[in-house]
Amino acid sequence: MKVLGIETSCDETGVAVVEDGVVRSNLLASQVDVHERFGGVVPELASRAHVEAVTPLLEEALEEAGCGFGDLDGVAVTVGPGLVGALLVGIASAKSVSLATGAPLIGVNHLEGHILANAIEHGSDLAPAVCLVVSGGHTMLVHMPEVHRYELLGQTVDDAAGEAFDKVARFLGLGFPGGPALDRLARSGDPNAIGFPRAMADSGDYDFSLSGLKTAVLRYVKTEREAGRDIDAADLAASFQEAIVDVQVSKTIDAAKDRGVQTVLLGGGVVANTRLRERMEKAGAEAGLRVWFPELALCTDNGAMIAVAGASRLSRGERTELDAAADAALELA
Ligand code: KG4
Ligand code: ZN
Repeated sequence: MKVLGIETSCDETGVAVVEDGVVRSNLLASQVDVHERFGGVVPELASRAHVEAVTPLLEEALEEAGCGFGDLDGVAVTVGPGLVGALLVGIASAKSVSLATGAPLIGVNHLEGHILANAIEHGSDLAPAVCLVVSGGHTMLVHMPEVHRYELLGQTVDDAAGEAFDKVARFLGLGFPGGPALDRLARSGDPNAIGFPRAMADSGDYDFSLSGLKTAVLRYVKTEREAGRDIDAADLAASFQEAIVDVQVSKTIDAAKDRGVQTVLLGGGVVANTRLRERMEKAGAEAGLRVWFPELALCTDNGAMIAVAGASRLSRGERTELDAAADAALELA
């Protein structure tokens, strides 16, 4: 079964062809240069950039996969959550391909795409699992008793993890998006140099809070500057990152034990973080759990994860009508 995957929920246009779980092509048109000087994603510019990128990317993705539109058995597209104008570009493209070829359309939840990206390396037998989804817009712990069934265990009460990385990185002058740059800087720093707060670490639930940490970093920098002391940016980055990772690791492992699952799945752009991967793997091994995360390029937004999630739903006989709408606040259900 050959399934096309189209992802346009934020600032990356992703188009992929996945055949029976194998990625035949997975192309990305990044908009980093479009949004960089604004220090964040500008929705209107994102929609326009998707319009320009999506058609050539579709043709290239099919060519690289060695197939034509007529060979497709399904068309998967992100229908939410995300920026509504950006989502609409992908949805309109997917509907056109579906209508022209007769291949069924399947709408995919972006967050399910992040979770099921793990199927590309580990196969479709992922459940039961506890999933940590950490991206630019979301930070949540989810129990997945079986594939496509989700129970929300907890989520951030304020900022998302990726958002915190991006804000602190911007403050440190590391550019946009700042997560990857902060990750690199932190590698030469001491994670125990500064004792930033571990918000909600002992809250007894699976919620997260990240805005206080961001404020603590800003306050620390201000105090040090006022005292005339030099700030070691690498130590600061490593200590900030450690505070985020600490809470995420402990809550995820607790949730897995609590739900009695053997598998922990990580998904979303922040899972590209070196320290999070390292610490999760170690904590998982100590707790006797399997911790799986996608390869780096499949952590951040991409079309392959949407194709895989869509293929799984199509194989269960699910279909999406051609009048499907974008849902900016779509929940995982
Ligand atoms: O999943 P994603 O590509 O887009 C959303 O669905 O939001 O996640 C993007 C987020 C950004 O905030 C980015 O800074 C963060 O993931 N990110 C990282 C790393 N790579 C990407 N954060 C920390 N360390 C990284 N290596
Ligand atoms: Zn994402």
